[in-house]
Amino acid sequence: MVIFDRATNCFLLNGKRFSYAMFVNRAGFLQHLYYGKKIGAEDADYLVRGHGKKAEPDPNDPNMEMATDFMPSELGSFGRGDFRSATVVVRRGDGAAMSRFRYRSHNVVKGARPLTGMPCVRRADETLTITLKDDFSETEIDLNYSVSDGSDVLVRSAAVRNAGSGTAEILKAFSFCTQLPDTCGTYSALRLAGAWASERRPVVTPIGEGTLRVESARGYSSHFMNPFLAILRENCTEERGECYGFNLIYSGSFALTAEVSANKSVRVQGGINDYLFGWQLKGGEAFETPQAALCYSAEGLGGMSRAYHDFYRDYVIDPARAYARRPIVANNWEATFFDFDNEKLYAIIDEAARLGVDTFVLDDGWFGARDHDRAGLGDWTVNETKLKGGLKAVIDRCQKNGLKFGLWFEPEMVNEDSDLYRAHPDWAIGKAGVEPVRGRNQLVLDFTRKEVVDYIFKAVSKVLKENDISYVKWDKNRDITENYSAALPADRQGEFIHRYTLGFYDLAKRLTEAFPNVFFEGCAGGGGRFDGGALYYFPQIWTSDDTDGLERTKIQWGTSLCYPLSSMSCHVSDCPNQQTQRTTPFETRGAIASLGATGYELDLSKLTKEEKELVKEQIGSYKKIDGLVLKGDLYRLSDPFCSEYFCEMIVSKDKSRAYVVGERFRGDPCDHDRVLKLSGLDETKKYYIRELNLTAGGAALMGAGIMLPRLCDCGSWTWNMEEIK
Ligand code: GLA
Repeated sequence: MVIFDRATNCFLLNGKRFSYAMFVNRAGFLQHLYYGKKIGAEDADYLVRGHGKKAEPDPNDPNMEMATDFMPSELGSFGRGDFRSATVVVRRGDGAAMSRFRYRSHNVVKGARPLTGMPCVRRADETLTITLKDDFSETEIDLNYSVSDGSDVLVRSAAVRNAGSGTAEILKAFSFCTQLPDTCGTYSALRLAGAWASERRPVVTPIGEGTLRVESARGYSSHFMNPFLAILRENCTEERGECYGFNLIYSGSFALTAEVSANKSVRVQGGINDYLFGWQLKGGEAFETPQAALCYSAEGLGGMSRAYHDFYRDYVIDPARAYARRPIVANNWEATFFDFDNEKLYAIIDEAARLGVDTFVLDDGWFGARDHDRAGLGDWTVNETKLKGGLKAVIDRCQKNGLKFGLWFEPEMVNEDSDLYRAHPDWAIGKAGVEPVRGRNQLVLDFTRKEVVDYIFKAVSKVLKENDISYVKWDKNRDITENYSAALPADRQGEFIHRYTLGFYDLAKRLTEAFPNVFFEGCAGGGGRFDGGALYYFPQIWTSDDTDGLERTKIQWGTSLCYPLSSMSCHVSDCPNQQTQRTTPFETRGAIASLGATGYELDLSKLTKEEKELVKEQIGSYKKIDGLVLKGDLYRLSDPFCSEYFCEMIVSKDKSRAYVVGERFRGDPCDHDRVLKLSGLDETKKYYIRELNLTAGGAALMGAGIMLPRLCDCGSWTWNMEEIK
């Protein structure tokens, strides 16, 4: 709910359990007031008098603007008294970029405020737009704030408008800027850092003087840093204490910064990466930033994650898919790599059907001259030498077995050894005369160009139209380099990366709208583009190319800090594991893969009889708990980064059911009598744990806990719990 108090010019935004407040101060600046636990509307007045007035610059003081260096602000200006980094910087035709943005007007509308050409929340109760105007130019900025009574997430974005007639250039346009109460010594920052095959590992460091910056300049959100930053107050733990989440609904290069002010308070802001960014704005034009999703939790990191999970499921992911049962997939990549023919695929398909899988996904290698990763990308026509009878033969085999069929594409890429490249070498990103950087032997198509996106749309659509395909795995296997488009004029090259991202969104929108019955799974060399923007189009994303039964606990734990379990594709693969060479029990791989959208990434036909029985059992058990994966609340119990145990549990919203999955990594002779305290149950309810044949009250299970089983290295357990009346 948006409340405006006319007497104090205070805006109070109330979500489910948080309040966010700001006011227009005497000098006309939009001053930040409060972000934290929900407070009553009547206390807006107190916030202004008790807090706001203390930090308010005095408009009668000739040195007034120097005081803005301390002022908690909703927007940092450039070139005046606020020396912290600005939120928006616009250079006018005469080269000047200093600005002083002050309040001009505001309005409140019911619902969300959709963005053009970019993913954004599908709904909201109300959206407040506050318009600020620069005193020295015709630049205006709309700050948008969307809130919903049912959500703990505040959605923020900005639009920069050139209301004049000359051309200006945006040098920076972040989506949000806010200020945390107290001083830097009280906070630490958690980011999700990683690399290929080890994505999204939580790293916590104290916030000290200077600027903490997490970013990607790789042209996409990347394996290396997720567009997510949490700021933890001292004593914040998994289940207790205060923290703030800052997450961008965006897949391009981004930056999030936490910067300590002269008075030691912390300015947090973020959006499109401003490194070599530029965007030309002609008279009358406007530029929209992506949305940022801000979350306050008084229940530690666990509370923050549960709030983000609800937010993604209820506001961002396609509502037709968000809570719908996910296909249980058998994917042939790690089973065959490029080396397959009809017979090899049929063997997997036949076995998949016998074991209860419902969708077979044909991965890389079915098209063009794609017998290895040096050729074929861009030629989206079936390789009939390899697949006799084309896709139709494989689809028929699936359908005869009652399976659905899915197909791999890498729409944004091209190999130089391809018909597409031979016909349109200029469609690949790069500059004539400069040798392009190759990654996995491929180049990236210039998605800033509409004709390129149009061509790929047609080529992929043709395959989807001509074949009965119900699932698409959309991959992207390299970083973007050169940062140059032959189609953009010299003075607009700073627009390249964002325009590329808009091109990706354009194709994703057109394909998902044209084929509403196709389930689209995202992927980027594993989990390289696991972000809110991608989740808008792809309800689930391949979490990592690392499917090792131990490493996956870490990757999935880190990913779950912000993104729901149901958004993570989690498959059982073969051992020794491709990436780690580790061998873990089949049961463990299945248990860890059940904490997401499950599936198999191995040659099912080559499993032993016992393993096949296990697959059947795993699928049967998964079908009983997938409702929890889709709709439940996650409680992380034992941190795989800090102990030899991993454990997570999912509890149904009504607390009548729960599912616990744990793993013991490495045995220690003295680690007996370990107790695991459960979480999230109803203290007053009684629960039966099937696997342990044990009945106990919620209070006892959470207070006294359960004695952990002693297991072999990387042994696991799963417990199904149900309320008994
Ligand atoms: C990426 C994906 C894999 C597989 C290969 C195919 O690495 O993450 O799952 O699809 O590409 O080339």
